Amino acid sequence: MLVRDGTIVAVGSRSQIERHADAKRAEKIDVGGRVVLPGFVDSHTHLIHAASRAEEYELKIQGASYEEIAKGGGGILNSVAKLRASRAAQLKNRARAALEEFASGGTTTVEAKSGYGLTVTSELKVLSLQKELNQEQPVELVSTFLGAHTVPAEYRGKRRGAERYIELLLQQMLPEVVNEGLAEFCDVFCDRGAFTLAQSRRILSEAKLLGLTPRVHAEQLSRTGATQLAVELGAASCDHLEQVNDTDIAALARSPTVATLLPGCDFHLGWKQYAPARKLIESGAIVALATDYNPGTSPTVSMPMILSLACTQLRMTPAEAITAATINAAYALRRDDRLGSLESGKQADLAVFEVEDYREIPYYFGMQRCSMTVKRGAIIYMKD
Ligand code: NIG
Ligand code: FE
Repeated sequence: MLVRDGTIVAVGSRSQIERHADAKRAEKIDVGGRVVLPGFVDSHTHLIHAASRAEEYELKIQGASYEEIAKGGGGILNSVAKLRASRAAQLKNRARAALEEFASGGTTTVEAKSGYGLTVTSELKVLSLQKELNQEQPVELVSTFLGAHTVPAEYRGKRRGAERYIELLLQQMLPEVVNEGLAEFCDVFCDRGAFTLAQSRRILSEAKLLGLTPRVHAEQLSRTGATQLAVELGAASCDHLEQVNDTDIAALARSPTVATLLPGCDFHLGWKQYAPARKLIESGAIVALATDYNPGTSPTVSMPMILSLACTQLRMTPAEAITAATINAAYALRRDDRLGSLESGKQADLAVFEVEDYREIPYYFGMQRCSMTVKRGAIIYMKD
């Protein structure tokens, strides 16, 4: 591969590349027969949060469900309280450290959602931190506004509480996010205990009018019809999908909306029901994979681990899983023209693995096989 100024100029056999006019002056990096992939595109994360929820993890192991913990004021609200009590510098340092770990697993692009602030100032603060981090470190960030993650505590148990929070979101948060250019996408957690289908439609339609592209947390805890809403609104992606039915799958199959599967959640929560990846693929839907890095349901930054889960639990082949974690995920972030594959003209975002066969990447689960990560032609991670 020949790279110039961060862009892939040519891909081919060693002799083809060495014959290229620019090859003589080029700095040579020999990866010694290892496997080189496009850098992973992690198209669904909740990057900025204040702390882990290890205390809830233990309760879950003892039998409490994710929804029971949320009803008791834990869950997302627990992370909201922790984020509101944190300083910007703390949040930023934690996110920066996580981004270094993303890169050490071969990830070069990360979508990041707000959604643990849920006030005008804290949502804007998180999105601004994402903008700063995007400029200050090499992993590319793509911002999504998720003010509709859950109804915050101060609006609960009040008359028209949820409605009043949605009014705040529509009248203040969304316009400011758009005016300050702080997000490209708008997401809603459409599920039991979060936002209803009608509320999600209202929020996403307004976001779309203001120029943000919709994405949806859909059919994770219960089937709500969010998938068909995503398709109807031309969402870039609908994510989770454990509870989709055949009509939902048929709608996705006919649409450009990506089905983003997050098997790290099912694994971490100890659920037996994973999303129907085979049915989705065989019906013709575009399937992507992401970590969903977040403190409640999927505390991992490792795309290789997600590939292992996709192969063993979702029955995706290693090639399908890699496709889902690269070019399909780039498409889900509207960056497939620039990211997600190794072709001339594309950005030189690469992940090098210490394996002899690409299938060994998911095969060696939970192991660190990524030996080098390159972003825009520059080495951003090197295994010692
Ligand atoms: O993608 N489902 C909603 N949001 C996250 C979980 C957030 C949390 O528990 O903090 C998810 O699973
Ligand atoms: Fe999520």
